[in-house]
Parts: sequence; C-alpha cells; structure tokens
Amino acid sequence: MKALLLVGGKGTRLRPLTDRLPKPMVPIMGKPLLERTLHTLKQHHVDEIVLSTCYRSECIRGYFGGGSDSGLKIHYVHEDFPLGTGGAIKNSESYFQDAFFVLNADILSNINLSEMLRYHRRKKADVTIAVTWVRNPSAYGVIEYDKDGYATSFREKPEEISSHFINAGVYIFEPDVLKKIPSGKPVSVEREVFPELLREGRKIAVYQGCNYWLDIGTPEKYIQAHRDGFVGKLRIPEVSFSRRAVYSRFNSKINRTTELRGPVYLGRNVRIGNGAAIGPYVVIGDNCVIGDGCRISNSLLWNNVVVESGTKMAECIVTDDCRIANMPLCRHRIYTPDVVKEIGNKAM
Ligand code: GDD
Ligand code: MG
Repeated sequence: MKALLLVGGKGTRLRPLTDRLPKPMVPIMGKPLLERTLHTLKQHHVDEIVLSTCYRSECIRGYFGGGSDSGLKIHYVHEDFPLGTGGAIKNSESYFQDAFFVLNADILSNINLSEMLRYHRRKKADVTIAVTWVRNPSAYGVIEYDKDGYATSFREKPEEISSHFINAGVYIFEPDVLKKIPSGKPVSVEREVFPELLREGRKIAVYQGCNYWLDIGTPEKYIQAHRDGFVGKLRIPEVSFSRRAVYSRFNSKINRTTELRGPVYLGRNVRIGNGAAIGPYVVIGDNCVIGDGCRISNSLLWNNVVVESGTKMAECIVTDDCRIANMPLCRHRIYTPDVVKEIGNKAM
C-alpha cells in the first residue's frame, strides 16, 4: 500500500514556529510530527510514501532521505510554486496505480487506517474521507452525508455551521479519480475536486472512526497536543507518563537539588543546575542546558536551548538554538533565535 503526504504548506498560522521549519517537522516530544505519522503508516502496512513538498523541502529531504532508516521507500515530488492540495495530489499521479492514502501532514489522530481501507472497499467508494466531530467547525471543511454514509455536501471554512462533522484530512483515493483534476495549476481538493466529484455522481464515503484528532496548525493547538500527550489522551508510542511522571532519554545530568515535578519529558544530554524547579508539563529537548535556580513550568523547549541561571519561565515555547538570558520572568511567549536577537537589541 502507498500513501501520499501533503507536506508543502507554509504553516503561516503556526508562525514563528515555522519560520525555519515546515509544519510537519515541528517536534512532538522529541520527534518530528512527520516521523510519528510515518511510523503509524508503517504499522498499517504502508511501505511506500510520496512526500509532496514545497515550503522548506530541504529540511524534510535532509531528515528522511530515501527512507531506509524507517524501513519505508520514500519518494519526493517537489512544487516550485504551491499547487494547493488538489494540485499536489494530481502532481503525484504517476506513483499510484491502486487505491492509496492521502494525508494532511499536520494531523495527530488515532484513525485506524486498516479499518478505513476495509470500509472503503465495502462501500465501493471512489474516495473515502475520514471525518471527526469538533465543537467549532468554522476553521475546517464541513461535510454533510446521507444515512448510507456517503457525502452530500462540502463547505470549506463556512461562516454558517450546518454540521459538526469535519474533514479530518485523511483520505483514500481510487487513482482514476485523478484523471479529472487539471494539471500544472493550483487546485483545492476541498473546494474544487470533492464538490466536482459529487456533481458527477461519484461515491464519496464518509468514515467515522477516530476518537482522538487534532490539527496542530496554530501554537495553541501545538501546545494542546503536548498537554494531551502528557495526560495520555494522545498516545505517543515510546513515551508514557502513567508509570513514571518524568520521562528521560539518556545521558542527562540533573543536579540532586533540582526538583522535577512531573509530567516532564527530558531529551538526550540535558543538563540542569542547582536548585532548579522544572514542571509540570515541561518538555526539554536534546542538548539543553538549564542554569541554577531556574523555574520552568508548562513550557516546551526544543533542542540546543540554553536557559541562563535564575530565569523564570511559564507557558513558553522556545525553538532550537536559543539562549534565554537576563529575563526574570518569561510568560506566554514564543522564543525563536530572531525573537531573542530582537529582545537583545532592545535591551542594549
Ligand atoms: N504540496 C502541497 N502544496 N501541500 C500543501 C499545499 C500546497 O500547495 N497547501 C497545503 N498543503 C498541505 C499542508 O502542508 C497540510 O499538510 C495540508 O496540505 C493541509 O493544509 P492546511 O493549510 O493545514 O489546511 P487547513 O488545516 O486549513 O484545512 C485542511 O485540513 C483540515 C483538517 O485539519 C482542509 O483539508 C480542511 O477541509 C480540513 O478540515
Ligand atoms: Mg491544517
């Protein structure tokens, strides 16, 4: 089985986390989201992946290469200008001869892809779309369907709400459906392809089968994904806080006078100084150094971050390679190297 992942979006709403990284590469407790998604696909017997790239494709290609480390065969189809979700699917057409999965790459979910495939075959559908219930559907694609489970309408980001079931960003396509999509120009699968297929009388089945689903498209949702991971709502395979409140990878040096208030995730080679208090709900990525007496709670630190002694930090995200210095209280902020530089310039 093959899968196409749409990884080319600019991640505008997730800025500044996506200033240097494409959205699928943001880390979720130590691993890029995309790596976690590829792992899930493999568990469902997907062995060949097509990554449809555009924004910052070099980060993705540099990390995954041909896929041999993950036991997958990975191909890349690059767009010099964004072709939109439908155009990206069309652009990858030559890789698919049988039914295949298509996934938005900014989704965390526990959709059972194997069961979805069985459902797709049972419904003899041209396309099957996973749906999920959300309280506020206005930021998503709203889907209505009939009593037999086939879609009857699509409304992308509607002002008026006609249903709470939304497109979960996971599809199965029969390849002949792609013939109808024009090539070489931007096309939206949600606004153009799906409505057109309905007009033609094609069968679009709706699959309901996920009890955890989150689009990490904004900083708030990105923080929520970690909260859900800490409390076990979102299952993160190698990380569990049910038995140990502190999950630590290897080679960390934590001073005995440091207080770790779980749940806390520590990456590799973390150093924490005297008398610090870390937690709850804190991720500290690989090679981070936390100085003496720091107080850090409800915060997500990526890799290679230095927090100087005495810093108090709450509800912050700190991206790779930042040095947080001389800031007595950091609250509700996102620090990137550019933001840190700007703060430093103002202080001078
Ligand atoms: N290759 C390529 N080219 N990929 C793209 C492009 C493009 O031009 N534009 C977007 N993508 C990728 C993004 O990287 C992301 O993985 C996926 O397509 C969806 O784009 P988003 O920008 O995240 O869309 P959205 O969240 O506003 O809405 C979509 O997802 C919702 C579920 O999270 C729609 O599919 C909605 O209908 C859906 O409810
Ligand atoms: Mg999205």
